[in-house]
Amino acid sequence: MTKKELQNLLEEMSLEEKISQMSQVTGNLISGDSVITGPLAEIGLSREKLALSGSVLGIAGAKELKELQKEYMKNHPHHIPVLFMMDIINGYKTIYPIPLGMGATFDPDLAKRCCEMAAKEAAAAGLHVTFSPMCDLVRDARWGRVMESTGEDTYLNGLFAEAMVEGYQGEDLKEKGKIAACVKHFAGYGAPDAGRDYNTVELSDHTLREFYFPAYKKGIDAGAALVMSSFNTLEGIPVTGNQKVLQNILRDEMGFEGVVISDWAAIEELIYHGYAADRRDAAAKAMKAGVDIDMMTGIYAQELEGLVKDGVISEEQIDQAVMRILELKNKLGLFEHPYKEAEEEQEEALLLCKEHRDLAREAARKSFVLLKNEGVLPLHAQQKIAFIGPYTKRRNIMGSWSITGEEKDIKTFEEVLRSEYQKMQAEVCAGSPMLGSDMKLEGFTEAAEEAVAEEENKEQMLQEALAAAKEADLVVMMIGEDRLQSGEATSNATIQIPQVQLDLLEEVAKVNENLAVVLFCGRPLDIRAIQEKAKAIMAVWLPGTEGASAILEVLTGQHAPEGKLPMCFPYSVGQVPVHYNEYSTGRPYQHGKDKDRFRSKYLDIPNEPLYSFGYGLTYTTFALSDARFDRNQVTETEGVRAFATLTNTGVREGTETLLLYIRDKVASVVRPVKELKAFQKVTLQPQESKEISFVITEQDLRFLTAENRFESEEGEFDVWIGETFVGTIMR
Ligand code: BGC
Repeated sequence: MTKKELQNLLEEMSLEEKISQMSQVTGNLISGDSVITGPLAEIGLSREKLALSGSVLGIAGAKELKELQKEYMKNHPHHIPVLFMMDIINGYKTIYPIPLGMGATFDPDLAKRCCEMAAKEAAAAGLHVTFSPMCDLVRDARWGRVMESTGEDTYLNGLFAEAMVEGYQGEDLKEKGKIAACVKHFAGYGAPDAGRDYNTVELSDHTLREFYFPAYKKGIDAGAALVMSSFNTLEGIPVTGNQKVLQNILRDEMGFEGVVISDWAAIEELIYHGYAADRRDAAAKAMKAGVDIDMMTGIYAQELEGLVKDGVISEEQIDQAVMRILELKNKLGLFEHPYKEAEEEQEEALLLCKEHRDLAREAARKSFVLLKNEGVLPLHAQQKIAFIGPYTKRRNIMGSWSITGEEKDIKTFEEVLRSEYQKMQAEVCAGSPMLGSDMKLEGFTEAAEEAVAEEENKEQMLQEALAAAKEADLVVMMIGEDRLQSGEATSNATIQIPQVQLDLLEEVAKVNENLAVVLFCGRPLDIRAIQEKAKAIMAVWLPGTEGASAILEVLTGQHAPEGKLPMCFPYSVGQVPVHYNEYSTGRPYQHGKDKDRFRSKYLDIPNEPLYSFGYGLTYTTFALSDARFDRNQVTETEGVRAFATLTNTGVREGTETLLLYIRDKVASVVRPVKELKAFQKVTLQPQESKEISFVITEQDLRFLTAENRFESEEGEFDVWIGETFVGTIMR
């Protein structure tokens, strides 16, 4: 449709029809095949009214969505198509690692390819919009949603945000296999006080602008069609009713022109925050702030008409919001092709096809981070190995957001081992339940029941494991957090693997000290207990559909691990929020060097995380030598090139990710002790050397100055490549 045609359409629509466009409900509410009960019944809208909602979420499948679209358009006075949205977070059917794992790949291009795959599958299943990427900066591992982020670094998150939006959307949303992306959760949702989900956020304007906003902005600049307003408050005002954030910053400063959708029920939550008196007030405040679509409360559908009639909201405001929604439908080509690509045959051919599984496997392999290895990995062919732990038999190794991924499409570790590694002398046993009955999983009934049920066999499981461990040359323990322990509403004050599994580890270590751990997790954990017992530790996150095969390929050395931590593994929970790019403080403390009592430190634990951002080993070793600059002054027009020679000093091929950090030594506002500015991956054969280089330009030295502008200032800058100090340059 042309802009003029859209305008004409808008003019023909009744106020009620327009407002319907601004409501989103779950698919079952409009499909008419379910009774509205429970909290949703409180929405208080008639089936007829719900049936005209302009978008729905949470349902997929070509056949069903085509039928729904047909029925919807038939009943709609202007035959406007409905939008189908869903959380496609790390794959539709072919599930790749959770976003935090993708962060560990340090490979935005790989993330882009994964998002292209997810979009193809989702589009074939009839979907139009995904609520991804989540661009929230995260520094607190207690917050379970860190698993949906690509980590603690602004620069890295920005690259991923951009790549993911490009992957989902391509050049043109009308193209085949493309869906619209939604940057979320705008803004600052990743910093809830004390790591408790949905909690108050207190961030200074400076911190928000310098560290939290840039990744959202990168996603927006890459063309994201939607932005989701977050649940949290900023400066005391919930974002979903916050004009400064949604209007002045998002629209005016960042230039976002697309659709703003509230997070689930966030408009209603304005009441519980104590910011709106009732539903009518909540509707007025969200509307004034600039929220175009109300997700799941029915408040807009109920209240906006009255607010317009009473002159609180103008019809012009409604028109602007509705126009943005119609434009999105138009960009997706829905007026011409309301089913877009919903197509059963295509769906059948694409979902979980070999090419997709291969990509998911590649992504999984590249996401694994080897944290420790005292010569036990990779496995040797002649060894007798006992694989012990609940994850040896666990089918579901997808993150908790993989709502469309299915267990039946996944092979367990044991199944892959038995079918593809028959020559390996291996014993496999679960050793313990995934969770003990002491586990607090309020609201997760199924998992809690499962944990208790398994508990009955605990002793027998342990005895089996000990017998296998005694006989083995090496024990590989496959343990970790349950997939339900990370994700939304999974804040934890104890960031450890479940106690039953720690008990198992302790018992096994008593009978066999030659022990490696494959660690499943959705967040950085306190792994001191594991660190003490294990000779090797590899974090595999929640690796997805091809996870088991990927793990075996890396354990057996067909591929070497190459991931790096996108977020610090704290020494203990007492350190969080902990991040590598902290400020110096006026009383900096150097471990082992400062004996002064009045220093910025803990008495009982170190300041440093156990494993910091950017850490990750592989099966070979690298050395960096001859680090130097070509010149030492950065000007507006000329950068400095930092060189070094990277040598593979081991006996195997390997890939190293080199990270370039700078520190601005004196500035108008204090600067982090280190900031990531660039990185590159280099693959080398044993004993091979290669000269690598990075160009540092004036742009790399910019930051949010005391004048509130992104600029660089004259002075000295320290430069490192990885841990190697290259020297100091001037600007
Ligand atoms: C989450 C969002 C998600 C939405 C829709 C909310 O509870 O916070 O991230 O996109 O639900 O499923």
